[in-house]
Amino acid sequence: MLRAEHLTLAYDTEAIIAQLNLHIPIGQITALVGPNGCGKSTLLRGLARLLKPRAGTVLLDGKAIHSIPTRELAKQLGILPQAPVAPEGLTVRELVAQGRYPHQAWLQQWSAIDEAAVNKALAITKMESMADLPVDVLSGGQRQRAWIALTLAQETTIILLDEPTTFLDLAHQIEVLHLLEQLNREEKRTIIMIVHDLNHATRHAHHLIALRAGQVVASGAPLDVVTPALLHQVFGVEADVLPDPRTGVPLCIAYGLAKESARADQELAATNGAQPLGVES
Ligand SMILES: Nc1ncnc2c1ncn2[C@@H]1O[C@H](COP(=O)(O)OP(=O)(O)OP(=O)(O)O)[C@@H](O)[C@H]1O
Ligand SMILES: [Mg+2]
Repeated sequence: MLRAEHLTLAYDTEAIIAQLNLHIPIGQITALVGPNGCGKSTLLRGLARLLKPRAGTVLLDGKAIHSIPTRELAKQLGILPQAPVAPEGLTVRELVAQGRYPHQAWLQQWSAIDEAAVNKALAITKMESMADLPVDVLSGGQRQRAWIALTLAQETTIILLDEPTTFLDLAHQIEVLHLLEQLNREEKRTIIMIVHDLNHATRHAHHLIALRAGQVVASGAPLDVVTPALLHQVFGVEADVLPDPRTGVPLCIAYGLAKESARADQELAATNGAQPLGVES
C-alpha cells in the first residue's frame, strides 16, 4: 500500500500540494488526471521521493519512504518522469541498463540476470532494433519507449509514469497501455500513471484520482467518478459521458468550455461514488 498522509509539497514558499491524503491501491492501475499545472507531476515526484515533503509523509507498506535506503526503494518503486533527458551520446541499451543499478551489489559485475532484464525490457517495448542507437537520434515516440524500457528494466513492483503516452502515435499509445495492463495482470505490478486522455484513464485504469489545484476532487472507480459534473468542476468543460459501447466504462466527449461552475459543484456533491475534496476512498 502506497499512501500519502497530510502531504505538503512545494518548490518555493507556496505549497503546490497541501495537506493531501490519498491512497494508491496495490495491484491495480491508478490514473491521475487533472488540468495543466494542478500538481500531478509534483505529486508523482513526491510519491517517488524525488521531492522532499515540506510536511506530512508518504508511506510504503506502512513505512515512511524517507526512511527506506535509496537502493532498497529503487527496487520497489520506479518512475518515468515527464520530460527525462538522457546524457548526450548514451545508447538505448546503456540507458535501459541504468535501470539495473539498484540491483547490483557493491562492486559486483554486471550479471546474466541484469542482461536478461534489459533484453526483456527492450523486447516488450519493441526497442531491440534501436538498442545500439544514441538516444538523441530517436524520434519523440521512440525515445519515450526507451525511457519506458528503463523503467521496466528496474523490475519494481510499483511503476509510476508521468504521461507515458506523450509523443506516441495512436498504435503505440495503445501498445503502451496494453503493456501496462499486461504487467499489472500477469506480474501484479502496481501502476500509477498520469494521463491527459480521459478515455485512456477510464478504459485502462481501475482507480482514478482527479486533482485540481493540488487537491483530490474525486477518487474511485472510473464508473463512479467520471460524470459531466466532475469534468465541469475539474477541467471547466461541458462534456457528455456515455457508456463505452464495448466495455461500458465512461466515455468522455467534451464539446465546450464551461460557463458557470457553481451548478456543477452542487451536482458533484450529489454524485454517488465521487469523494469530496481531500478525502480518500
Ligand atoms: N521545478 C519547479 N520549480 C518551481 N515551480 C515548479 C517546478 N515544477 C513545477 N512547478 C510549478 O508547480 C505547479 C504544478 O506543476 P506540475 O508540473 O506538478 O503540474 P502538472 O499537473 O503535472 O501539469 P502538466 O499537466 O502541465 O504536466 C505549476 O504551477 C508549476 O509552475
Ligand atoms: Mg506534469
